[in-house]
Amino acid sequence: MLKNKFVVLGVTGSIAAYKSADLVRLLKKRGARVQVIMTKSACKFVKPLTFQVLSQNPVITDMFREPYRWEVEHVALADSADIILVAPATANIIAKIAAGIADDILTATILATRAKVVIAPAMNVHMYENPITQKNIEYLKGLGIKVLEPEEGPLACGYTGRGRFPAAEDIINILEELVGKAQDLKGRTFLITAGPTREPIDPIRYISNHSSGKMGYSLAHKAIIRGARVILVSGPTNITPPAGLYKFVPVETAIQMEKAVLENFNQADVVIKAAAVADYRPKKFNPEKIKKKDDEMIVELVKNPDILQELGKKKQNQVLVGFAAETDKPEKNALEKLKRKNLDFIVLNDVTQEGAGFGSDTNIVKIIYKDGRSEALPRMLKEDVADDILDRVLPFLTENG
Ligand code: C5P
Repeated sequence: MLKNKFVVLGVTGSIAAYKSADLVRLLKKRGARVQVIMTKSACKFVKPLTFQVLSQNPVITDMFREPYRWEVEHVALADSADIILVAPATANIIAKIAAGIADDILTATILATRAKVVIAPAMNVHMYENPITQKNIEYLKGLGIKVLEPEEGPLACGYTGRGRFPAAEDIINILEELVGKAQDLKGRTFLITAGPTREPIDPIRYISNHSSGKMGYSLAHKAIIRGARVILVSGPTNITPPAGLYKFVPVETAIQMEKAVLENFNQADVVIKAAAVADYRPKKFNPEKIKKKDDEMIVELVKNPDILQELGKKKQNQVLVGFAAETDKPEKNALEKLKRKNLDFIVLNDVTQEGAGFGSDTNIVKIIYKDGRSEALPRMLKEDVADDILDRVLPFLTENG
């Protein structure tokens, strides 16, 4: 799976730096292209020549080395990397990444990349367990960076504890798992809904909600990357639709969304309804702007169709995934919804938590299955929550053939 993948390996100043040489050897053996970047202190432990020979590529140690190439090097590396692996990672580099510092070629490349970043910490146990390091690690995990657990055992500093560099084979397995996702949804059609709906009262006013569409757009984006054919039905949002969509259907109201979803349902293998559909709409649309008159005004509302519930009734082989934004007895309500709508699983946002739900770039979700089993995911970028949701769709697709 690593064949022809471009791995940028950052080696930093830990005694475990010599172990990375083996990592390069194994990466090359699996067919990866490897570009090693060494920090100044890493070069004190191991000579760049070791990595140069093993990677068959000159090692980069200096952001301003000559001769200058025509492209901006850290941006070129950041753009072309499939994975950036920092191994071993010192407490210092972890802190710098967490702070957004970009004062050398490695940190600048990491700050500029959109590729998956994997970090393998190796350091003295007290440095690792220091709350500052732990806070930084938690923060990076929250941003979707994969931070590996160091192993426990005797350390070079004489202490015994957690801080050892994981076995090179284990690191390679994790990288394979990450890139293996590359095309695992190929040949599948996804119908995804996103954003709020708008229910007009008159030509000027409408009823809506705070949905930004970020979760649904992230799902669409990730499903495209993983090879799926994606139809995105979206209420009004400020987000540019991801490149590579099979079809984009912009809608305003719940009724329009219902029509678009039903029209595309038969060709879908998976439906993920991340849209926050308004439950009610004004009974009557006033073609003229309603004039300000009395102290009180009553807008009569009628129920919108529950699109997902309709799909649940029509469902044959499709995998159906719903979202629930709850503020009260979240799990109980989500499970009830899942059953009523005949879903395979439901993604519960507890919108009362900081860093979850509407508008935010991150989300904290719990996945609840038919049998009542639930899985709590940590706070992550919506893009990474999207990948985790797609991971959970996969077994249902295999089950359905
Ligand atoms: O019942 P509730 O609106 O909380 O359910 C949320 C789930 O149902 C979401 O997946 C949402 O997209 C979907 N839904 C729908 N049609 C509605 C209301 C919600 O498809 N009218």
